[in-house]
Amino acid sequence: MDPVENVQQLEQLLASLRSQFRQSLTNLYLTAGTLAQWGRLGRLYQFSAEGCLLLVREEAGFHRVYFLAASTQAIESAAAALEQLPPAPLVMDLVGPESKLAEVQACWQDFGFSPYRRFIRLWRPGLTEQVAGDDGIHVAAPSEAESICGLLHQEFDPYSEHLPDPDEVRRRAERAEVLFVKEADQLAALLIFERTGVTSNLRYWYVRPESRGQKLGSRLMRRYFAASEGAQRMILWVDDENVGAKDRYEHYGYRADGLTDRILVKQAP
Ligand SMILES: CC(C)(COP(=O)(O)OP(=O)(O)OC[C@H]1O[C@@H](n2cnc3c(N)ncnc32)[C@H](O)[C@@H]1OP(=O)(O)O)[C@@H](O)C(=O)NCCC(=O)NCCS
Repeated sequence: MDPVENVQQLEQLLASLRSQFRQSLTNLYLTAGTLAQWGRLGRLYQFSAEGCLLLVREEAGFHRVYFLAASTQAIESAAAALEQLPPAPLVMDLVGPESKLAEVQACWQDFGFSPYRRFIRLWRPGLTEQVAGDDGIHVAAPSEAESICGLLHQEFDPYSEHLPDPDEVRRRAERAEVLFVKEADQLAALLIFERTGVTSNLRYWYVRPESRGQKLGSRLMRRYFAASEGAQRMILWVDDENVGAKDRYEHYGYRADGLTDRILVKQAP
């Protein structure tokens, strides 16, 4: 595996592979500018072989693995290159309809990855009625990004939650997409969302344990709904085993849309 020196060349390689493979197996779904941003923020490694590109991003204490491959055979021939990385757990997401993930999952399991968590995507249509906001909810200022980011990294699982860095939280704050409640000068509850075109994506919803069941979560959701006016679809990912959260989302009209994220982990040797 080689460190990525030139992100533009990598983007060209990806575009060329995508056009070459008639059908590809991948977990590399990039929005514009993501690669450049990753390149700026930390180390990226790449490896390409016949029919397969592996891309690895160094995150805090582990490596996240992405692939674009023509077939499972191509993955099997390329996967050993991951052993050249500095030792750290390897984490990967396999995203798609459940029925389409089994073959590629089996292929990575042969290489030592194990199932870690399963997230499902929930969906609801945009709101048709107007929702009143809540004056007690604060919209975070960009200067508050660091402490908000700290809370997320303390409370959420880094392998499965794709935790943002302070820069990303700052950008969300600039777009008024970070909502919080303070109690006794402490962050008590938090909701972060991401509006892209007609889609509103609820990224994180959190209430400190001692403040749960007191409607803080409810107030944040109502403010979020008010802020999502005009969105045509509202989505989120939730751990399939997080029954408390799933029940609440269902209460707010969300339903599973059939998309799954299977998170696999290979521990460091
Ligand atoms: C999920 C979480 C944010 C909820 O916060 P909370 O303050 O306890 O939530 P609330 O008590 O305000 O409940 C929110 C809504 O769900 C409803 N609700 C509560 N328990 C419910 C249940 N078992 N089933 C269905 N609805 C329920 C409430 O009535 C409320 O609805 P309302 O707005 O119509 O009044 C909080 O439990 C938490 O931080 N959990 C850990 C992090 C997490 O799992 N986050 C979500 C996944 S990213």
